Amino acid sequence: MMDWTDRHCRYLHRLLSRETLLYTEMVTAPALVRGGALHLLDHDPSEHPVALQLGGSDPAELARAARLGADTGYDEINLNCGCPSDRVQSGAFGAVLMQQPGLVADCVDAMRAACDVEVTVKCRIGVDDQNPEEILPEFLARIVAAGCTRVTIHARKAWLQGLSPKENRDIPPLDYNLVHQMKGLFPNLHISVNGGVTSLDQAEAFLDAGLDGVMVGRSAYHAPTDILASADRRIYGRGTDRSAEAAVQGMLPYIEAHLASGGRLGQITRHMLGLFAGRPGARQWRRILSEGAHKPGAGPELVEAALAEVAAAQEIAAAG
Ligand SMILES: Cc1cc2nc3c(=O)[nH]c(=O)nc-3n(C[C@H](O)[C@H](O)[C@H](O)COP(=O)(O)O)c2cc1C
Repeated sequence: MMDWTDRHCRYLHRLLSRETLLYTEMVTAPALVRGGALHLLDHDPSEHPVALQLGGSDPAELARAARLGADTGYDEINLNCGCPSDRVQSGAFGAVLMQQPGLVADCVDAMRAACDVEVTVKCRIGVDDQNPEEILPEFLARIVAAGCTRVTIHARKAWLQGLSPKENRDIPPLDYNLVHQMKGLFPNLHISVNGGVTSLDQAEAFLDAGLDGVMVGRSAYHAPTDILASADRRIYGRGTDRSAEAAVQGMLPYIEAHLASGGRLGQITRHMLGLFAGRPGARQWRRILSEGAHKPGAGPELVEAALAEVAAAQEIAAAG
């Protein structure tokens, strides 16, 4: 998610779950290939398995970007066919590509030929006045024929005219049934559903009903502990639950290293605000970090002080 799942966020999320697949923000192929913005590929070795999401619509350029991503160590390269923002529309990529399945297939083909990691697609069920029941099977058939074996379907349309990107994540209705139908039509395609999933119970229900994966966006960001800390055990049947407290402890050396290399505390702590969401001390945690992280000289002591407040609030809650 752009501006959200940067490398600091992913480092944190990996401390909460060893098994889940993490995705980068969308990085545009032109930025990498023409702009030389290779720093956008930076990631920590601990992030694996991690997928690089690319935006673009030029097969040759996407191929070069995919190669750069694979050479930098990403485990998967994902092509964005779901983002509705104006900026992305003008560059002819994102959700507008739902109208050009042949071009998407060419992109997938070129990307696959350029690197030896898996190339996947994230798409919508359609855009504007397209009929999803007609166009989605055709879209999937084209990308499958190009060698794509895994797709994530954001189960709503994008309306390219008239809605902001934010509205496009909430207003077009979700059609989970259609995603299940696609699994029936393409049994060998690994299909993950995305959109509106706010709990592991909900994710488990999708898996029990036959889907292969569930992608969680906003909830994983706003309440990472709820979504990630027991995902290894519940979804993957491996490992034990993590805790927000342990994740905070795990972030301290990372924060120190970031500050030592000239970074700022707030660049990391902004992703940590939701760690205690719904638990005693959540408010104090958010307040201390939001108010203090931008002050000159702020460092890991601030995070430790906020954690101490959480512990105190939890003791009071347990006693009461
Ligand atoms: C701030 C923000 C940025 C996003 N950026 C991307 C992006 O770069 N690539 C992408 O595929 N989806 C992006 N999305 C969409 C989410 O990945 C997801 O498809 C959408 O929010 C619906 O899933 P959710 O209900 O689990 O959040 C973004 C969403 C938000 C809120």
